Amino acid sequence: MRGIILSGGSGTRLRPLTKITSKQLLPVYDKPMIYYPLNTLIKAGIKEILIIVAPERAGDYLNLLGSGKEFGASFTYEIQDEPRGLADAFVIGENFIDDEDVVLILGDNIIEDDVSDEIKSFKGGAKAFVKKVPDPERFGVVKFDDKGKAVQVEEKPSKWISDHALIGLYVYDHRVVDLAKGVKPSQRGELEITDLHRWYLEKGELEVSEIKGEWIDAGTMESLHRAQIFAREKMKGKMVI
Ligand code: DAU
Repeated sequence: MRGIILSGGSGTRLRPLTKITSKQLLPVYDKPMIYYPLNTLIKAGIKEILIIVAPERAGDYLNLLGSGKEFGASFTYEIQDEPRGLADAFVIGENFIDDEDVVLILGDNIIEDDVSDEIKSFKGGAKAFVKKVPDPERFGVVKFDDKGKAVQVEEKPSKWISDHALIGLYVYDHRVVDLAKGVKPSQRGELEITDLHRWYLEKGELEVSEIKGEWIDAGTMESLHRAQIFAREKMKGKMVI
């Protein structure tokens, strides 16, 4: 199993904090933000990790994280010249993924749960994780039928369909590379990860699991502020790095 941390983008919602650095390098309590998703992967036993960054910040990531040896892992870096969408991670990561299964985690997502078992028990297809939220319009969401089976996946729906937000953690088998290469840009010009989910859903190969602990997407000023407190109160004892 390979891991990818998608840590590019321009962090415009966090200006001026992100004018001179990357969002995912900002402090969240006593660690740079990217340490939290990195911790999730390393805790789950993933040792080969690709870190995708924006070109102007590549040097900072290398200085901070290095080869990975310090973390008992091996890091590879790739540049994403423009934020083309989350599914672009698998196009950029094609050679790195090779024929392996892959976990993608977003560089601004902080997850309380230990997902080792979920990742180790992965047997192909796709696995996504959800959490009930009060503001589902901010996220990708999954609708379930009354038997609890996932029936619909939508990115930031303008009309309510579900409170279950997709968190920024996804597991796929190696077919995801060819799939991502075939995804067409959406109306907002991005290669949408929900298109990948839909493909697996239609084949009956999308498993969706609800996480128990807290989760924060630290991508807005408000959620970054909450992340500081969350990291101090809930994450301190859960870090292995
Ligand atoms: O946090 C969970 C949500 O993340 C999901 O519920 C949504 O389905 C998913 O689309 C995503 O939504 P966001 O609005 O948070 O996506 P955002 O554009 O902020 O990108 C998420 C992270 O990925 C952010 O740290 C920047 C990075 N990124 C994003 C894009 C589009 C890249 O590195 N490259 C990209 O091309």
